[in-house]
Amino acid sequence: MSYITDNIIEEVRNKFDILEVISSYIDLKKTGRNYVGLCPFHSEKTPSFTVSPEKQIFHCFGCQSGGNIFSFIMQIENITFPEAVRLLGRKAGLNIDPQPATPKEKKEARTRELFFQINLAAQEYFQAVLWKNIEGKEALAYLHKRGLVKESIEEFGLGFARDRWDGLTGELRGRGFDLDMAVKVGLLGQKTPGRYYDYFRGRIIFPILDTQGRVVGFGGRSLGDTEPKYLNSPETPVFNKRKILYGLNRALPQIRREKEVVLVEGYMDVLLLHQAGIQNTVAPLGTSLTADQVSYIRGRVEKIYLVFDADAGGQKAALRSLELLRKEGCALQVSELPSGMDPADYVVENGEKAFREAILNKARSVVDYQLYTIKKDLDLQKEEGRVTYWKEARKILARIEEPLEREEYLKKIAAEINVSLEVLRGDLEKNIEESYLKEKKAFPQEKKSAGISPKEQVEQELLSGILQYPQHAEEVWRHIGPADFTSEIYRQVADCLYQIHREGKELETAELISFFPEPQMHKVIMDMAIPAFQEEEAKVLKTIRSCLKKMKALHWSEERKSLIRSIKNGAAKEDISAALKRIQILKKWEEELYRSGEGEDLHG
Ligand code: UTP
Ligand code: MN
Repeated sequence: MSYITDNIIEEVRNKFDILEVISSYIDLKKTGRNYVGLCPFHSEKTPSFTVSPEKQIFHCFGCQSGGNIFSFIMQIENITFPEAVRLLGRKAGLNIDPQPATPKEKKEARTRELFFQINLAAQEYFQAVLWKNIEGKEALAYLHKRGLVKESIEEFGLGFARDRWDGLTGELRGRGFDLDMAVKVGLLGQKTPGRYYDYFRGRIIFPILDTQGRVVGFGGRSLGDTEPKYLNSPETPVFNKRKILYGLNRALPQIRREKEVVLVEGYMDVLLLHQAGIQNTVAPLGTSLTADQVSYIRGRVEKIYLVFDADAGGQKAALRSLELLRKEGCALQVSELPSGMDPADYVVENGEKAFREAILNKARSVVDYQLYTIKKDLDLQKEEGRVTYWKEARKILARIEEPLEREEYLKKIAAEINVSLEVLRGDLEKNIEESYLKEKKAFPQEKKSAGISPKEQVEQELLSGILQYPQHAEEVWRHIGPADFTSEIYRQVADCLYQIHREGKELETAELISFFPEPQMHKVIMDMAIPAFQEEEAKVLKTIRSCLKKMKALHWSEERKSLIRSIKNGAAKEDISAALKRIQILKKWEEELYRSGEGEDLHG
C-alpha cells in the first residue's frame, strides 16, 4: 500500500463525482439510476460501460473492467494508483506528496520522473537552439516558409537539434543529468561505455506530449534530403507510440466541445490545422492507427474525420485505418484532398473556411469512400469495369449490418451500373451467406471464475454476499473471521470488510477499492460487487449460510486429510491416538453440519 494515508485518499475521492470525471472523457447517457456509454477499454458498438453515481463506481459488462474513480483514471491515463490519487489531488488543489510503496515501485516512479525531466531539459535546449542559435536560422526559415507563425512554433514547443554529435550531450552533462538515463530515454546514443553522442542531429524537433502535458518523446524532421525524413524517439517506458496521438493534449478542449476529431497523418498537418483554428486535429505517430489510439478518442466523439494525404501512401493508410475504425464502431467520415496535397498544404493555401467546407463537409461515409476508391480506377462504360466494380462492391456491402443501409447502397450501385436491383440483391444475399459460413465463430468463452478451487469459490461467494448485501455482514462475521479466508487475495478483502464492519461504518464499494493500489484488485472487487443476476432477497441469507457451512466443512475436511496424511507418514503413537480422536470429532461436526437446518448455530 502507498504512503498516502487512507484519509487523504478518501478526501481526494470525495472531492470528485465519478460521473463528472468520466463524462469529461467519454459520452454517457442516463438510463434509470445509471449512466451508460461506449467502453474506452475495449472495442464495442453497443454501450456496456456503466457508471453508478450513487455508488460512485463504474463497471463494464463487456470487458469486466471496473472500479472507483481512481481505477478509471489509472486505466485511462495508464498510470499507477498513487499517480492517480496525486493527479486528482492536484486538480482538487490538495497538497499531497505521496510516496509510492514498494522499493521497486519507488524506483520505477523515480525513473519515470527522471525520464520526464531529461525530456523536458532536452525540449528546452532544442527550443533555445531554434530561436537563439545561428544553426536554428535555416530551420526557422523553413518553418515560416511552410506557413507556421511564431506563436504556433512556440505553442508546440518546436526546436532544432544542431548538426553535431555533442550538442545535447554537452548540455545534459553540463546540467548534471545521468547520461545513461538519457540513453535509455532515446536522446543519446553510446558508442562505447562512457562515450555518448546526440541521437537527433540537424533536425527540426517536434516534442511529443502526453495528455498531462509531459514530454514523452520526440520526432525529428530532417531539413535536407537526409533519410529518414523523420526520426522518432524509440519506445521507452514513458513513450508508447501505439498509445499516443500527436497533438491530443492541445486538441482535447475542442474535441470535447465539438465532439468531433480530425485525424491526419503528419506532425505538420496537426500544427498547421491547429494554427488555422481546426484545433481538434490529431495524428498517429508515423505508424498506422492502432486500436489503443482509437479507443482513447472514440468514447469522446460523435464523429471522426479521416483526412489523409492524397497520395498512394496516404490512401493505403486511410483504408487501413478505416478498417480498424469500422471494427471499433466509430462514426467515420473520410475526406479527400486534391491530388498531391496534404492537409497542411491545403489549409495554408486555402484557409480554414475552405478546409471546413470543401474538405470536412464533403467527407464521404466509409462505404461511399470504399466504393469510390474501387470505382476510381475502373471504366464503368465498359462491361468489364462494371463486373469488376460489382464483384468488389458486394464484398463491402456484405459487411454492412443494417439492412436498410445496405439497401440504400444497393440502389445506388444498381443505378450506376444499370443492373436491376433484384438481380444485385439476389447475388449479394448469396454472397453474404457464403461469407457468413466461412466466418462463423464460436461464442466467446465465459471466463469468470474458471479454474479456481472450490474453497476459493466459496470465499468469493461469501465476499460477494457481503459486498452486495452488507446488511448480512453481521451474520458472516458472527461465524468466521478474516483469518479463515485461505486465499491471499480474498483474505485481504475480508480484512478490509471486517474492519469496516467492526467500526460500524457503512460499506461503500468505492471506498473499499481505494484500500488497494493494485488494478487487479479493483477488478476482483468489482467482479464480486456487481451481481451477475439479482438474487431474491429471501434467498440471500440462505446462500450466505450455506457458504459459511461449506467454508467450515472444507476447513474440517482439510484438517482431516492432513491428519490422515500425518498418520500414514508414521507419526508417534500418542500423536496417532490424538489424531484419530480429532478425526472422529471433525467427522461428527461435518455430519451435523450437513444435517443441520437453516439458522442453526455453527460450530466455531
Ligand atoms: P509525411 O511524410 O506526410 O510528413 O509523414 P509530414 O509530417 O506531413 O511532413 P511534411 O509535410 O513532409 O513536412 C507523415 C508522418 O509519418 C511519420 C511522421 O510522424 C510524419 O509526421 N513519418 C514519416 C515517420 O515517422 N518517418 C518518416 O520517415 C516519414
Ligand atoms: Mn505532409
